[in-house]
Amino acid sequence: MVLNKTLLMCKPDYFEVSYEINPWMHDNIGKVDQAKASLQWQHLHDTLAARANIKLITAQPGLPDMVFTANAGLVHKQTVIVSTFRHVQRHGESAHYDAFFRHEGYVIKSLQSGTTFEGAGDALFDGSGRLWLGSGPRSDVCAHSEIAQALEIAIHAVHLVNPRWYHLDTAFCPLSAGYALAYEKAFSPESIALIRQQFGDKAIWISDEDAHNFACNAVCLDHDIVLYRASPALQNALQQCGFNVIETDVSEFIKSGGSCKCMTLEI
Ligand code: ARG
Repeated sequence: MVLNKTLLMCKPDYFEVSYEINPWMHDNIGKVDQAKASLQWQHLHDTLAARANIKLITAQPGLPDMVFTANAGLVHKQTVIVSTFRHVQRHGESAHYDAFFRHEGYVIKSLQSGTTFEGAGDALFDGSGRLWLGSGPRSDVCAHSEIAQALEIAIHAVHLVNPRWYHLDTAFCPLSAGYALAYEKAFSPESIALIRQQFGDKAIWISDEDAHNFACNAVCLDHDIVLYRASPALQNALQQCGFNVIETDVSEFIKSGGSCKCMTLEI
């Protein structure tokens, strides 16, 4: 069944690890098997296309991380805040996302110049429409108040304290029916307390092993959860909550520090 959702994706035509801007990329420069990456991306695409509409943005040479469309921007109704990347290696992507969203008829809003913000990588809506914003290695904390103002919505701000969990979507994933996946070691004590307070026993705290397999970087479509890998214990916990876990191999993209969710953006 195709749900009433549209996901933006980008083919990995120019995907590689050619620089190092997060700990996962360390020692992986030049090590991507491009043929394998294409097959893995296509499989993810087909898995998602059976459950949602997919739209594509054209990949650009010299911008290998464009495959991670979660970082294109933050989409709220017909408004988009296009990302302003922390690292110079990704700066060139913003103009392509800007052009894409303008062409699609979205209203573009900008943050103050100098504020870095990496889109849905650090901005996730939960099932009740509350916006969770992460700050730390990538997005500036001052982006939060600017976003709340620009979109006229209430936000929950959390702080990422560990360079390996550099985007919110590497360590937190709101699911359907009021549940969320979260990884404790990624967050400051105040942020852990906020997640506990808001989700209560519907917060599913994942193990180190699952965190390293990017279990929080999951695409949740109704009761289907598409992710790279989940341990038997996590699969069991999710099944108990009524979810159906679908694993898909994205090992080539893990080399760049991204998994399933990073390669999608709900628009
Ligand atoms: N290599 C990319 C980077 O470091 C990976 C981005 C993953 N995206 C995400 N939303 N977590 O920027």
